[in-house]
Amino acid sequence: MKKTLLLLGLCLSLGGSFAQDSEPLVAASRAAVKVYATRLKGELVKAMKSGGPLQAIEVCHGKAPMIAREVSLEKGLRIGRTSLKTRNPGNAPDAWERKVLVSFEERKARGESPSKMEYSELVERNGQREFRYMKAIPTGAVCLNCHGADIAPAVAAKLDALYPQDQARGFKMGDIRGAFTIRQSKE
Ligand code: HEC
Repeated sequence: MKKTLLLLGLCLSLGGSFAQDSEPLVAASRAAVKVYATRLKGELVKAMKSGGPLQAIEVCHGKAPMIAREVSLEKGLRIGRTSLKTRNPGNAPDAWERKVLVSFEERKARGESPSKMEYSELVERNGQREFRYMKAIPTGAVCLNCHGADIAPAVAAKLDALYPQDQARGFKMGDIRGAFTIRQSKE
């Protein structure tokens, strides 16, 4: 009994210190997501206005990974996007990301809104401590042009050509389209 209590106390204090330690890391992750999302959305909206979804595909295809690299360099971390149903197989989740994405779906099924959904954890990989963070990305109206169930034929044809393994179609408003994902070395 005493041992259990001791263990419990240890776990609680570890949990507590993680929460304290991780506060600035969570704040930095949120800030990086904000910069990445704002830049990406800015480019997307600009391209949609000037040339419609056909031209905007170029933004998502070329600029999304480029902006991710820029923000990663600026912020000293690694940021990207992932999903349970990817368009670009290069964005496929690793085991940890898949687990978090599944838990996001479960949280949504229990009634939580995806708009503020996030998760972070201090993990160990090959003996290195790493801070990992994910934030859900809800599907909005504009997204349906390229991720919905009813995609214009010319857009679908271009997506077919660029992404023969595309799984990222058939989404509805409010669905979790995927998540921003961040990793940061703790050493
Ligand atoms: C003009 C077409 C277009 C629109 C509109 C669009 N996307 Fe995408 N989306 C793409 C393309 C193309 C990719 C693949 C990018 C790459 O190669 O990394 C992509 C990739 C993604 C990914 C990365 C995971 C994956 O599937 O590879 C997420 C997350 C995503 N989009 C979310 C959204 C959200 C949320 C919206 C609405 C705000 C949106 N997209 C609007 C075309 C679009």
